Amino acid sequence: MTAKISPSKGAPYARILGVGGYRPSRVVPNEVILEHIESSDEWIRSRSGIATRHWAGPEETVAEMSLAAGGKAIADAGIAASDIDAVIVATVSHFKQTPAVATDIAHRIGAGKPAAFDISAGCAGFTYGLTLAKSMITDGTAQNVLVIGVERLSDLTDKEDRATAFLFGDGAGAVIVGPSQVPAIGPTVWGSEGDKAETIKQTVAWDEFRTGDVSRLPLDSSGNVKFPAITQEGQAVFRWAVFEMAKVAQQALDAAGITADQLDAFIPHQANMRIIDSMIKALKLPDHVAVARDIETTGNTSAASIPLAMERLLATGEAKSGDTALVIGFGAGLVYAATVVTLP
Ligand SMILES: CC(C)(COP(=O)(O)OP(=O)(O)OC[C@H]1O[C@@H](n2cnc3c(N)ncnc32)[C@H](O)[C@@H]1OP(=O)(O)O)[C@@H](O)C(=O)NCCC(=O)NCCS
Repeated sequence: MTAKISPSKGAPYARILGVGGYRPSRVVPNEVILEHIESSDEWIRSRSGIATRHWAGPEETVAEMSLAAGGKAIADAGIAASDIDAVIVATVSHFKQTPAVATDIAHRIGAGKPAAFDISAGCAGFTYGLTLAKSMITDGTAQNVLVIGVERLSDLTDKEDRATAFLFGDGAGAVIVGPSQVPAIGPTVWGSEGDKAETIKQTVAWDEFRTGDVSRLPLDSSGNVKFPAITQEGQAVFRWAVFEMAKVAQQALDAAGITADQLDAFIPHQANMRIIDSMIKALKLPDHVAVARDIETTGNTSAASIPLAMERLLATGEAKSGDTALVIGFGAGLVYAATVVTLP
């Protein structure tokens, strides 16, 4: 007879208990970007909505920014660090791939010996992590999960590339996801479109870069081999985001059984202010819905963008604890993930 395996016992539902963010101290206005590219403050503001972004200093590493954001999320959730039994870190800009940065963060934040791992899902990384955390809690493999989205995209930005130099910023956002007696994180609508993998990518793979072959690698204006950076087909990504992501956002609303007018807040990935405005129109969001527009002063921080925007929306009082918010992340892969949550 086959041995019977006991089923795992989880909480009925999961919710976000607390949120925290860390923005590097250096604020970088468009004027600094214009030192390297032919453009204007007016063009950058009108085409992307970005006025300033933060760039991390040498001490503001992926781990340090994560510890700062994670510490705030723990305090906001009102739990002890030792209550955390899983740490998920979403990032594409931690340069030391082994070991996962999540284990270092878990140890230094005082979580003891939790499960800890990194995930790579571009600008959807945070929403992917949130989805995993929810499943872990309802499955019973974790009670309290620290989910961090963190990037140092300034390290992966080609400051001479007109198409991307102004877009990216650095920072970390974190949430604690814990058990709930009522549904507070809806079904996630997620997926990938690998046929569009070339539209956002690293310019040169690390092993190619290592060859240092000046005849085959991109060179900067001084003739030196350029460090790998994130490049994109801006218009193709823009069109995809505007047309396809509004549909995904609507599917997430439908899956949660929520209509647009029942929403209190909309927290999309902060990629471009015009993408945000198009989604508002496509979803027919009423005026009372608070919309995260953190991109203006934070730029695109990829995996960090949604938790940072969530933290700011709550800190400014535009949204409040218990509000119903639609979140959607999308980016390199191409990948996407959307869900409806109750704000912490
Ligand atoms: C990057 C982005 C802001 C560019 O805006 P855009 O309106 O699509 O700009 P285009 O690339 O079509 O270029 C339009 C014109 O501006 C020019 N241009 C491009 N970059 C410029 C810059 N930095 N400054 C001034 N002009 C610029 C182009 O040369 C082009 O000129 P032309 O019409 O004479 O040929 C926009 O495509 C975008 O946000 N895409 C999505 C980005 C994104 O979300 N990425 C990450 C997803 S996670």
